[in-house]
Amino acid sequence: MGEINRVSKTFVGYLKRPDLYPELGRKIIKNIFNRKSAFKGKHKTGSWAAARAVSQEVAIKSLFGKEMRPFAEIFPEDYKESYQKQKYCPIIMGGAGALELIYYAAEYTRATKIAETGVAYGWSSLAALMSLVQRNGVLYSSDMPYLGQDGDQYVGFIIPEKLKKNWKLFRHADRESLPKIFSEASSFDVVHYDSDKSYEGRSWAYGELFKNLRPGGVFISDDIGDNSAYQDFCEINSIETAVVDFDGKYVGVFIK
Ligand SMILES: C[S@@+](CC[C@H](N)C(=O)[O-])C[C@H]1O[C@@H](n2cnc3c(N)ncnc32)[C@H](O)[C@@H]1O
Repeated sequence: MGEINRVSKTFVGYLKRPDLYPELGRKIIKNIFNRKSAFKGKHKTGSWAAARAVSQEVAIKSLFGKEMRPFAEIFPEDYKESYQKQKYCPIIMGGAGALELIYYAAEYTRATKIAETGVAYGWSSLAALMSLVQRNGVLYSSDMPYLGQDGDQYVGFIIPEKLKKNWKLFRHADRESLPKIFSEASSFDVVHYDSDKSYEGRSWAYGELFKNLRPGGVFISDDIGDNSAYQDFCEINSIETAVVDFDGKYVGVFIK
């Protein structure tokens, strides 16, 4: 799809969704005044993350005291079914987060409440839900779908029906979804960030997620090497974080 075609499809997608107008306004302002914010501090954070990075196995052992087994091995049937479903999804969405990290964080905290931003196919949601259902807990997800592809109906496409009673999806931009989620629940056991990758989007959401994470809860952010928002957030708040090298990207994780 050409760039102009993609931008106009996205714009039309926004126009059809009045609840997303605030995000459209923010995007327009960002594109006029702050175009470089996606990569702010990327170089600095690249070396900071590389110096700390460990594998998922090492992080899970040192933070949660567990030997990691691959998610696909713990839940072979559900994984296979979801994997097959993804193949038949008519639109292409963002890739999966670090499933084991999310699953073991939920098990470690014996989670009953998890908040996540960024759903797409729903892989991170699946990892959280497989643990939550054991305690009849709830996953609160925020996702603004890919508007250029008319993808609303496919958000969470791979999540099995049997898990949906434990799932609440807020179909807005994070700036609107997160206040709604935190007016329904607080003191979360695990929070997972995997949506708006801009410096400002992250900085704002990290603060909100951190405030609503209980002491002893687990904070996870995907793609922390995109810019220095995660590193700066940890340094400003004197947070000692682990960095996981996963699938060619860095994931940040710490216990509050
Ligand atoms: C990388 S994908 C999420 C992948 C998912 N966590 C997984 O493991 O399968 C990012 C998702 O965040 C959504 N997104 C991007 N910006 C957003 C925003 N400002 N608010 C809410 N969702 C957003 C995208 O539409 C997309 O569905």
